[in-house]
Amino acid sequence: MLSGDVGQLQSGSELDQAERILDQGGVVAIPTETVYGLAARVDRLEGLQKIFAVKNRPFFDPLIVHVDSVELARQYLADWNPLCTVLATQFWPGPLSLVGPKTAAVPDLITAGLSTVAVRIPKNGKTLELIHRAGVGLAAPSANRFGKTSPTESAHVKSEFSDVFVIHDEPAEIGIESTVLRVNGSQLRILRPGMISRAQIEAALDEANLFYSWDYSVVDVGGESPGQLKHHYMPDRPLIWVDGDMDLPAITRFANQHIDSIPDEIAGVPIQHVAKVEKGVELVLPTDPRLAARELYGKLRQCAEGEADFIFFRWQPSMQGDLWQAILDRLGKAASLRMSSGSLSFHDM
Ligand code: TXA
Ligand code: MG
Repeated sequence: MLSGDVGQLQSGSELDQAERILDQGGVVAIPTETVYGLAARVDRLEGLQKIFAVKNRPFFDPLIVHVDSVELARQYLADWNPLCTVLATQFWPGPLSLVGPKTAAVPDLITAGLSTVAVRIPKNGKTLELIHRAGVGLAAPSANRFGKTSPTESAHVKSEFSDVFVIHDEPAEIGIESTVLRVNGSQLRILRPGMISRAQIEAALDEANLFYSWDYSVVDVGGESPGQLKHHYMPDRPLIWVDGDMDLPAITRFANQHIDSIPDEIAGVPIQHVAKVEKGVELVLPTDPRLAARELYGKLRQCAEGEADFIFFRWQPSMQGDLWQAILDRLGKAASLRMSSGSLSFHDM
């Protein structure tokens, strides 16, 4: 039983039940402004192990710790500095995770054995109340099976994990995962782009007259942000990224020519493979990147639930800037194939 004792689930308010399940070493799905998370208390090893088991998540992928105050964040982040204070003041609660050296209060299971931990204050009343009641941080990855599309509505979580207790709330306002920012003294590095942009981070630090520099010296981020895989966020149908305005028959032909190149596993976790595709559906996003982010995962799911056997997305030259970059990061990882302008050349995603 994943969520605790069913008998006990029948009494008490939603948050009472969630609190009890967490206390007993279970997991609950929590709403946040980015995506729904699958949470366990940082001090319940049993709960943390369930997160990995439920998601089928490999242990090399570290979890983000969710807190309700800077005070609690500092119990997990060892080298809290003035940059952290300014960023927390400016962006918390909100979609920014700070990565820094961890304290002994953070179990190795959360950080995949790394010496650093990611921490953030999410912006959601119910979840903040739950963390407050727990009195400890809640470790939570997105509440989806490993490698698949993240959930932005409670119904998404329920359809994927029928045994998990889900705290219900409105659809997520931001819609894609937090910006993950490593703070190493005065050196900063974005490990995962999100809706808090580099420009916003710079503006906040400049305003406070703090010295910092961007560190992009190491090209390979694989070892630094282990969750940043080539494939991720994948819908249940192949997604084809199209550069240029090829028509549907051309896209369909292309898909079938390269069908064997569609990945059938993500980091060793198998995913469904198709032999032939016939019917494509276009993923169309709003031109405003904030709206596009909000709608991205819901639309991907809708496309994957319909009659079509593949999804395609047309990249537009107007999709520029930090915010689009964060969305295109997700789409690039969700895509199985990429088709480029004019030619039907194949690009390994
Ligand atoms: O918005 C979000 O961040 C959502 C909600 C639930 O808060 N959570 C989320 O968690 O996206 P998840 O597990 O799907 O992604 C967490 C990612 C990891 O894959 C990894 O890339 C990065 O955060 N991360 C976590 N701890 C890290 C660390 N110590 N060093 C580098 N990267 C880390
Ligand atoms: Mg995730």
